[in-house]
Amino acid sequence: MCAKPISEANPASAADGARWVHACGRDALASRGLVPVFVAGRHLLLVQDGTTLFAVERACPHEGADLALGHCAAGRLHCPRHQAWFSLTDGAVSPGWSFRGLETFATRHVGDDVEIRIGHALGAKPVT
Ligand code: FES
Repeated sequence: MCAKPISEANPASAADGARWVHACGRDALASRGLVPVFVAGRHLLLVQDGTTLFAVERACPHEGADLALGHCAAGRLHCPRHQAWFSLTDGAVSPGWSFRGLETFATRHVGDDVEIRIGHALGAKPVT
């Protein structure tokens, strides 16, 4: 878990109240696919899938399993407890499950830092 405190150095907020918040340094991602972070009072998970970085909520919406103990493959984050998986692009849960999808958040690199856009989740897709 990144230990660096949350930075408010870039408090630029959008009209919807969302803002970019420091999550960790780029070096924290160097050899790890899943990096738990605590940002703006929320436990989130950075997921490195190839060259793309995603941010999602850390607790599985099913029974709260720690998704940092799961694994990522082919754009999907797999829960370690019951093996449901979530799309990293929109949080949608795998077919056959009757709980909501994961909240997903935008990420960006700013110099040597990773930031997450807080206050406006990209998605938490309901089961279809
Ligand atoms: S706790 Fe994640 S699928 Fe059940």
